[in-house]
Amino acid sequence: MPEPASKTREYALGHSAPELDRLSLQAKLLEPFTRRVFEDAGIGPGMKVLDVGSGAGDVAFLLREIVGPEGKVVGADRPPEAIQRSRERAAALGYSNVEFVQGDPVDVDFDEPFDALAGRFVLMYYPSPSGALSRLARHVRPGGVIVFQESDNTGARTFPPQPLFERLFELMVNALEFSGAEPRMALKLYPTFVDAGLPAPSLQTHVAIMGFQDPFVEPLCNFLVQGLRSVTPVLIKHGLAAERELALDTYAQRMSQEFRAGRGVMMSPPFVGGWVRKPDEGLGARG
Ligand SMILES: C[S@@+](CC[C@H](N)C(=O)[O-])C[C@H]1O[C@@H](n2cnc3c(N)ncnc32)[C@H](O)[C@@H]1O
Repeated sequence: MPEPASKTREYALGHSAPELDRLSLQAKLLEPFTRRVFEDAGIGPGMKVLDVGSGAGDVAFLLREIVGPEGKVVGADRPPEAIQRSRERAAALGYSNVEFVQGDPVDVDFDEPFDALAGRFVLMYYPSPSGALSRLARHVRPGGVIVFQESDNTGARTFPPQPLFERLFELMVNALEFSGAEPRMALKLYPTFVDAGLPAPSLQTHVAIMGFQDPFVEPLCNFLVQGLRSVTPVLIKHGLAAERELALDTYAQRMSQEFRAGRGVMMSPPFVGGWVRKPDEGLGARG
């Protein structure tokens, strides 16, 4: 078994059109959890919010609902294709108070500080999450909200164990690790805030659970296999799986049949939100 290479860093999921579609479906599934985390963190009407690692734009669109017509949302991300997709969606929806900026939000300079900074499934991809967080925090006014939602990808489970689900979970974790991402970021949120020189965060966790008669089994299997498809180049590059072994064209169908026949129950990874108010004093980052 090859060892994860700590020095190389690639974004395991890529930015293909099907991957951006997958992000939007993921956003629908997670919407109630993410909304709850953002609202409990203190994001509310009228605020100006920065969405870090905005992907296909879904978190920014959710934030727009929370801040309302008097608020404003700026999404920032590195890949031009994600920014273009987000801008097209915002234009099609007629959203005037959401805009998207291309660039790593760690490096971009904004004219004015934000009332809040939010991100989902993004700290896990930074080589130094605490270093990134300490730099990101400069975009927020003193007293403003800093909130992230991250997952523990090692925590997804089935019972009785469903081999195709379990294999998929294992491969996703391997792909993240081998590409240099942190699959357990949910469990590292607390030290990451502290190491960024911020106060210890409030934490909140959510999981989803589904049984074998649920009508959503097939859509969920398709969604999970799209994730596997997105990371397949990483799996092949690192010798973690062979395309023939995966048989991606039939994986979702086999997985859903196995799950229904095996009377499976599946629990999602824990999704953890962590948040603080930015203190008035300097940050003194250590990350
Ligand atoms: C899984 S997507 C999440 C997108 C969006 N936040 C959502 O929840 O729908 C992760 C995002 O992090 C960005 N990203 C990945 N690696 C990064 C890095 N090293 N530095 C900055 N951003 C990165 C990607 O461009 C991608 O849009």
